[in-house]
This record gives sequence, structure tokens and C-alpha cells, in this order.
Amino acid sequence: MPNSKSVTRITVPLGERTYPILIGDDLLKETGRLAKEHGIPRSCVVITDTNVAPLYLPAVIKSLQRHGFEASSIVIPAGEVQKSLRRAEKIYTQLLRRRAGRRTAIIALGGGVVGDLAGFIAATYQRGLPFVQVPTTLLSQVDSSVGGKVGINHPLGKNMIGAFHQPLFVLADISTLQTLPEREIVCGLGEVVKYGVILDAAFFSRLQGGIQAALRHDTKTLRRFVAECCTMKSFVVSRDEREDGLRSILNFGHTIGHALEKAGGYRSLKHGEAVLWGMLAETMISRRVGLIDREQEFRIYDLIRSVPLPEVPRSSSAQLLRTMRNDKKSTDAQIRFILPRSIGTVTLPTVVEEKLISRVLRDLSWSY
Ligand code: NAD
Ligand code: GLY
Repeated sequence: MPNSKSVTRITVPLGERTYPILIGDDLLKETGRLAKEHGIPRSCVVITDTNVAPLYLPAVIKSLQRHGFEASSIVIPAGEVQKSLRRAEKIYTQLLRRRAGRRTAIIALGGGVVGDLAGFIAATYQRGLPFVQVPTTLLSQVDSSVGGKVGINHPLGKNMIGAFHQPLFVLADISTLQTLPEREIVCGLGEVVKYGVILDAAFFSRLQGGIQAALRHDTKTLRRFVAECCTMKSFVVSRDEREDGLRSILNFGHTIGHALEKAGGYRSLKHGEAVLWGMLAETMISRRVGLIDREQEFRIYDLIRSVPLPEVPRSSSAQLLRTMRNDKKSTDAQIRFILPRSIGTVTLPTVVEEKLISRVLRDLSWSY
């Protein structure tokens, strides 16, 4: 058993839905013990993907069985396209065939795709099952496994079908990040940079060196990023669980990011890469509407450009704007952004004229 001091525990205080995020090294073998401590039902189904299963599924199943759980698994293909109603239906069928009832827990083992999809299954199957998040990507450890947003994509927009369904606990084993390809570390860094810009100027200032260390898979740095980002996410979610106000700041970079991701068919840019580019463009918009000053704009620009990123494929301005109008913040078809005022503070959703958005996209050579 790891020394309890070597496990960082962050609480997400949500009344009767309060839960801990446990962060440490080599923690997967503790899944069974922790599941028992948190009152997880004896029967549980681990949902994971084809990349993660050979690496980490045996350790999780073994630990669960050692602690008396009846554990089975469902392995889905990897990739964003799996966050679909079609995949969800297949999983419902598998659960029904296994006679899974309401006393079955769902354990998500994988990145944000598995976490969002498995969480959606847990929120909807037989009106809700207990749910545990075991995130294995940097992005899912710093962001998506915390806060209870679960869901799937619709052909007309990302994350358009979903629910709020909090996990009973989150188990973030930092050692699993050692097998992540560099490109996936970059994706996680997108959300890490986001936290610096929206909430914490001091954290942002420390990021330059940290980013290079994270790209080298430096465990100490990765662990610090996970703990600091989870603390910030817990702060936000505990004040606004259902995104009536403050929580919308977590969408900085996502209005343009989601549009770029969709324009590339969810294949050319990964979510975190699209968010990094989205933050760069949205900071330019902030400068042009007179909110952020030039020096702060350059600091954000320089930090984002220090991360290796694939180019943005060009697409039509009309198509990108159409996707942005469908964004969840844009209830009246006006496009809204979270805009940085300075590093560490942002606006709530703010309407920006389409002409200005198009100009920025064209200046970046992302649209025609
Ligand atoms: P992902 O789940 O697709 O994982 C990235 C890739 O890494 C996949 O190929 C996966 O199989 C592989 N992988 C996972 N863990 C691994 C490991 N330890 N070693 C080697 N390979 C591993 O992508 P992601 O970046 O983790 O998550 C992106 C998703 O998260 C998007 O769908 C996004 O919308 C969602 N998201 C949700 C929230 C939320 O609050 N719910 C927040 C941010 C992002
Ligand atoms: N990642 C956005 C949110 O959790 O609200």
C-alpha cells in the first residue's frame, strides 16, 4: 500500500456529492481497495479503449478481484469518433446482455473520450449507476475526469448530448502518463495553459520551464500540474456545478477550438491541440476588442507557440462561424467568447461581432 503521504488528496466539495481526487504514482493496483473504501457495489464494469486495455486493464481488474469485486470489462476502439450515440447503444446492449442492474458500477479507465462516454453510460443506463474515473491521459487528469460533465457528440456539434454525473472518486495515477505519446502530453498542456490564463497568473509564469519538463515526461512536473489544475477545477466546480456562470470560464479557447476540431472531422487536430490554437485566436480577439494589452497578449502567444503543434487545416470561414453559432454559450445565435482581460482574469461569455472573428481567422490563414 503506498504511504498515504505520497498520495495527494484534493476534495471536490459538492454537499452529498462531495468526492476526492487521489493523485499519486503506481496507484492502479490500489483500485480495489479504494473502490471498497468508497462503497462501490460488488459488481463493476471497467470501460476502456484498445490502446489502454493492454497497458493497464489487467492491473485494475486484478486489484478489483483481489478485493472481492466481480469485475468485467468493455473495450472500445480508441478515438473521438467513439463519443457517439451509436457506440453508447452498443455498450447499453452489452450491459443488458450481462444483466447489469442498478447495483453495477461503471469505472472509466482511459482518456477524456472514455471518461466522457463511460460517464454518459453511467448517467443514463437504468437512470444512473455509480461511477468512478481512472484517467490515464494528462488532459483527463488535469481536467475532464473532474467536475461531472459527461457526454457524447452529435453530428451537428461536440458534447451536445450529455449530463452532469459526478464520480464517487477520481484516481489519477501519474505513472500511466509515462506511456503517453508526446502529442497527447501536448493536448493535456492545452488545458494546463488554460488554467494559468483564466485563474492564476503566478501559475502561468511558472509554466514556461514546466512545459519543456512535461514534454520530457518529468514525473514531478506532471504531478504538480495535475494537483494544481485539479485544485483550480475543484474551486470552480464547487461554486458553479451546473455552469450557470463561473464555470463557463473553463471554456476559454473552446469556442474556436471546437470549430477547428469539427472542421478537421475530429481527425486533423486533437481536442487539446485545437484548444491551444483556440486560446491563441481568442486572445487576439481580446486584444482587438481592447481588453488585453499587447504585452500580455504576446506572453500568451509565446507560451502557446513554445508547444509543438500541427498546423491548422484551412476551412471556410462560413463553416467555422456556423459551428461557433451552435456553441452551447451562444443560445441566441450570437457568438460568445471567454476573453482574457489579463493573465489570470477572464470575462464571462462575451458577444463578439462575426466580422471581427472572420478577420482574425483570415489573418491566421485558417480560413478562406
Ligand atoms: P483520448 O481519450 O482520445 O486519449 C488520447 C489517446 O491516448 C487515445 O488514443 C488513448 O487511447 C490514448 N491513451 C490514453 N491513455 C494512455 C496512456 N496512459 N498511454 C498511452 N496511450 C494512452 O483523449 P483525451 O485528450 O484524453 O480527451 C479528449 C476528450 O476529452 C475530448 O472528447 C474532450 O471533449 C473531452 N473533454 C471533456 C471534458 C469534461 O469536462 N468532461 C474536459 C475537457 C475535455
Ligand atoms: N472542461 C469544461 C468543464 O468542465 O466545465
